[in-house]
Amino acid sequence: MMDWTDRHCRFFHRQLTQRALLYTEMVVADAAIHGKRERLLGFDAEEHPVALQLGGSDPAKLAEAAAIGEGFGYDEVNLNVGCPSDRVQSGTFGACLMKTPALVADCVAAMKAGVKIPVTVKCRLGVDEQDIETALDAVADGVFAVGADALWVHARKAWLDGLSPKENRDIPPLDYGRVYRLKERYPDRFIGINGGIPGMPEAKAHLAHVDGVMLGRAAYHTPGILSEVDALLYSEPPQPFDPDALLETMCAYAERHIAAGGRLGHVTRHMVGLFHGLPGARRFRQILSEQANRPGAGAEVLREAFAAVDRVADQAAA
Ligand SMILES: Cc1cc2nc3c(=O)[nH]c(=O)nc-3n(C[C@H](O)[C@H](O)[C@H](O)COP(=O)(O)O)c2cc1C
Repeated sequence: MMDWTDRHCRFFHRQLTQRALLYTEMVVADAAIHGKRERLLGFDAEEHPVALQLGGSDPAKLAEAAAIGEGFGYDEVNLNVGCPSDRVQSGTFGACLMKTPALVADCVAAMKAGVKIPVTVKCRLGVDEQDIETALDAVADGVFAVGADALWVHARKAWLDGLSPKENRDIPPLDYGRVYRLKERYPDRFIGINGGIPGMPEAKAHLAHVDGVMLGRAAYHTPGILSEVDALLYSEPPQPFDPDALLETMCAYAERHIAAGGRLGHVTRHMVGLFHGLPGARRFRQILSEQANRPGAGAEVLREAFAAVDRVADQAAA
């Protein structure tokens, strides 16, 4: 998610689930080709499996950017056909590509030809006045015909005219049934669902109809739910959530980041919702929000925040 799920966020999420596939935010193909690659695409080996999401509509550029991503070690490359922002529309990519399914297929074909890793697509049900039955089928038919390895569907339309990007994530109604019908049309292809899924019980329920579930905002705001993924969705033996181990790993990671010239807040801003709903969560959030961006702030701030949760929780238990 743009401006949210950077490499530090992914490293943190990976501590909570070993199995979930993590996605980068969208990286525009031109930026991957011409920009500061290490800053845009670099990631920690611990983040695997991780997919690079690309934005663009020029098949040759997308193929080149996909190959660059593969060279960086990404496990999958995904084409964004869902982002409705003005910036994205003016570049003719993102959700407006729902109107040009043949071009989407050309993009995927070029990407497939350029890499060995899986090439996947994330799209909407349709845009504006499109009929969601024909619009979604057209994109799916096109990309599967050229070998797309999965299609993820954000189960609502995007309104390109009149709604802000934020409104486009909430206002167009969700229609999970439409994604289930797509799965019936493509029983042998990987169809994933996204949009408004609040937690693991709901995610598991969707898996009765589709092959994968993608969580955006819920995973970001309440990352603790990720600690249920491996046992609940991948049938791994249950591992109790171990805050002490997490603290040590994140302290070591933050110290490495700070030593390389970064700030503690770059890492901890993704962690503020970790203890959501538990005693001490507010104090945890407060300590991180107030102290992590102060000059010279180090891993001790993280320790103090974790201790606040433990202390209050212990008191509550006593
Ligand atoms: C701040 C923000 C940035 C986002 N950036 C992207 C992006 O770069 N690529 C993408 O495919 N979706 C992006 N999305 C959309 C989410 O991936 C997801 O499709 C949407 O939020 C609906 O799922 P959710 O209800 O689980 O969050 C973004 C969402 C938010 C809130």
